[in-house]
Amino acid sequence: MNNESLKLFAGMGIVASLVLGLGWTAVAVAQEDLAEMDMATLNQRAAKLDPEHYKFVQPVCTRCHTPALFLHSRQWDAWGNIFRQMTGYGAEATPEQWDNIYKYFATALTQINVNHADIDELVTVLGVDEKTAIAIVQRRSDKKFETAEDVEAVPGVSKARIEGLGPRLLFDQPPEVE
Ligand code: HEC
Repeated sequence: MNNESLKLFAGMGIVASLVLGLGWTAVAVAQEDLAEMDMATLNQRAAKLDPEHYKFVQPVCTRCHTPALFLHSRQWDAWGNIFRQMTGYGAEATPEQWDNIYKYFATALTQINVNHADIDELVTVLGVDEKTAIAIVQRRSDKKFETAEDVEAVPGVSKARIEGLGPRLLFDQPPEVE
């Protein structure tokens, strides 16, 4: 390697570490973002996802901490664990409030893999009745769901609800193309 190409090589190294460094900064900012926002801004952000049900979440779930802790999507069983954990810490709500809190987290902050979710999760997150949930389970044992359209095609499934889930609707990774 001559001097010139050495310099070029070193230069590329600097550019690469700069890009990597900036990448890291962007990730860090995205995570800190929520932690640094005040209660009012976070409440606005949380309410936007589902204003009707957030009215019930806010008084119960922001008594001890800001929404920064819960504005991350999880699978439904993980939310169940969180609700139990928070009850253990002293969170209190009436049955009506819990019902609406469940609806908020199910519609706004839950990820679901339609090829693995159980009946309860399908009913709660997709907002379908039990008969439709059973039809989904039967359909996927014949052929796995691969796209949102596949799911929408099942009678009884709401297209708007599926579209609302967006990237929170998960599918199995397609097999590697050889
Ligand atoms: C009585 C106080 C209290 C109330 C009310 C409360 N929390 Fe918490 N929450 C805590 C404490 C304390 C922590 C931090 C300790 C921890 O992370 O285990 C926490 C942490 C969390 C976390 C992060 C947990 C993790 O492991 O990442 C989530 C998510 C959360 N709360 C959601 C909620 C939701 C949803 C509600 C309303 C149903 C709620 N909290 C109501 C006290 C409370």
